[in-house]
Amino acid sequence: MEPVNIGILGLGTVGCGTVNVLSRNAKEITRRAGREIRIVQAAARSPDKKRECATEQIALTGNPEEVVNNPDVEVVVELIGGYEPARQLVLQAIANRKHVVTANKALIAVHGNEIFQAAQDKGVMVAFEAAVAGGIPIIKAIREGLAGNHIEWLAGIINGTGNFILTEMRDKGREFEDVLAEAQRLGYAEADPTFDVEGIDAAHKLTILAAIAFGIPLQFDKAYVEGITHITRADVMYAEELGYRIKHLGISRRNGNGVELRVHPTLIPERRLIANVDGVMNAVLVKGDAVGPTLYYGAGAGAEPTASAVVADIVDVVRTLTTDPNNRVPHLAFQPDALADIGILPMEQVTTSYYLRMQAQDRPGVLADVTRILGDVGISIEALLQKEPAEGETVVPIIMLTHRVVEKNMNAAIAAIESLDVIEGRITRIRLEHLNRDWD
Ligand code: HSE
Repeated sequence: MEPVNIGILGLGTVGCGTVNVLSRNAKEITRRAGREIRIVQAAARSPDKKRECATEQIALTGNPEEVVNNPDVEVVVELIGGYEPARQLVLQAIANRKHVVTANKALIAVHGNEIFQAAQDKGVMVAFEAAVAGGIPIIKAIREGLAGNHIEWLAGIINGTGNFILTEMRDKGREFEDVLAEAQRLGYAEADPTFDVEGIDAAHKLTILAAIAFGIPLQFDKAYVEGITHITRADVMYAEELGYRIKHLGISRRNGNGVELRVHPTLIPERRLIANVDGVMNAVLVKGDAVGPTLYYGAGAGAEPTASAVVADIVDVVRTLTTDPNNRVPHLAFQPDALADIGILPMEQVTTSYYLRMQAQDRPGVLADVTRILGDVGISIEALLQKEPAEGETVVPIIMLTHRVVEKNMNAAIAAIESLDVIEGRITRIRLEHLNRDWD
């Protein structure tokens, strides 16, 4: 059999990782794919730069359009990231009837509907395993392994940088900025690290997971997105004292007639396996009606873990080069004409438990005022922690865990409590999920 020629866009961390994995494991990969996979061309911003991978056998160019228009290239591997020019290049590759493999979560989450439609029209594949949770084969697991299930919910630690920061804050008492700088040095963080710490990267990945889990179009613009920048060491410690860990979770769940799509810091019981996923590691919990809860764990970022997913996609594409386009695994797991029209719920309609931290005057009646406001909107308190005032202080921290309540009621209660004279500053609110089998 003739080798399959591929072209790579981008020779950064993941690009070089892909070159190295393809070359080191060439024999085994050929045995799996049934054909040799040859990188014939690669585009890099600085083609002459010294890099961490051997490129002597590859024609290098500074112009990515040469790769997507190269008649010898059958599969384009897009590893430049970001919205543009990635979108234009991928659409051009598809227009040229080339298959595409991409690690670009931003591109798929925001422009995936357009890209999949174009791919469908041209009968080519767009594979994107590396876009979510790095090396964990979570797309394949949900799209194929769980295809017999009605998926009820999923919750994941899907940003390694954010998890690394929260872990270091808890374990070593390190400062936020210091840990972020280290994540950037190690190549985990996005080109714009606000995508990591403000939750945008996790929301891109969650949008993709929700689409393939529930058979709905990609709807990144409807996601509720909250980052980790307001989490303090004090919150991490109080959560620990109450038996919880704070993790930055992406959560998507069928709820009545809608789908929840939300990214925010979340307290989870420390005994849950996922609460113990630390550092740059990722994990995704998926609950299917038949299989029950399943957990997928692994490296969510880094050169070779991400390359592992990119190469698996290349092998998948090569294996199916000769299959009829209508009999391939659909891009979003469900047949394109069978996507469901289920809306994404506004955050105000989501029901969760909460951690609240407030600074209160140390006076009689303060707790009674606060609990009356909560009681008035039907919020029940599950745990309460009040610390003694520090020497010479008249203000004390009060920490509360509540039972489940609809977010709209919690917003009203927080506004009313913050307006009390005896409460200083803003209330810190972190959502809390037990992640039990039945989500209760
Ligand atoms: N910045 C991402 C993360 C890289 O930290 O998880 C992998 O998508």
